[in-house]
Amino acid sequence: MIGVFDSGHGGLTVLRALTTRLPGHRYIYLGDHAHAPYGARDVEAIYELTRENVERLFSIGCRLVLLACNTASAVALRRLQQTWLPHFAPRNRVLGVVVPTIEAITKVPWHVKSPPGDGVHETRRVAVYATRRTVESGSFPYEIGLRAPAIAVVQQACPGLVDLIEADASEAELARQVGGFVAESLAGLDGGCPDTAILGCTHYPLVATHFAAALPPAVEILDQPNVVADSLAQYLARHPEFDTPDPAQPAPRFFTTGDPAHIDPLASRFFGKDVEFERLASSGL
Ligand code: DGL
Repeated sequence: MIGVFDSGHGGLTVLRALTTRLPGHRYIYLGDHAHAPYGARDVEAIYELTRENVERLFSIGCRLVLLACNTASAVALRRLQQTWLPHFAPRNRVLGVVVPTIEAITKVPWHVKSPPGDGVHETRRVAVYATRRTVESGSFPYEIGLRAPAIAVVQQACPGLVDLIEADASEAELARQVGGFVAESLAGLDGGCPDTAILGCTHYPLVATHFAAALPPAVEILDQPNVVADSLAQYLARHPEFDTPDPAQPAPRFFTTGDPAHIDPLASRFFGKDVEFERLASSGL
């Protein structure tokens, strides 16, 4: 069983890609709607909430958990992997969405920190759109810089965008907000144009058309959910102990720390088909 975690609905965009790319697996989705959004919370709170929810997924038998949330991946994952996991559950694994994204951008495997300078990235510019906390973590520019120092990275925080998406705001309002964030990021480039945009929040695929409309036409928008799904497929090939397809292949189950009555209709838009959330019992799943 593979656990997929996000602060709310956003991770459903990743789960959707996983069920297409790796359909033989059994997935448990957990959205921490009671505490969403994470993007403006302080680092310690994001760490603790993420740890608690990973623990919940472990407790029902998900030995592999994917943080389908850029904020949790950027802010909490390294600390979880280095200080908590080795003591709490050394045989389990927690993965995130930042690593596959960096690998896709730089074309450099994660373990390579100082690639030979081949000049391939000389003229590249990457724009990252993300929550405030992801931007403040500096994860994207730092990790890209380690592997492809010649790629210029411009970051743009998009405060409030997750709230608007979760509140099912009108397309006109979403377009206006996204347009404002894109204009701000382009202004920081002094007339330069990014070649690639990372929508570094798993909620943003829902407003990808607005990003595409606001960005110059030549900008490629990285398809993070599919990049993450491809990366997980490669991970499972390297780690067959976690590659345990379930022949009965029951449909994913969806749990929330919030009130299922308030989230079902919107969640289906993220997942692309009907989603029925179950309330998380206080004792666990
Ligand atoms: N969807 C998440 C992300 O990728 C978190 C959004 C939030 O809770 O602020 O960053």
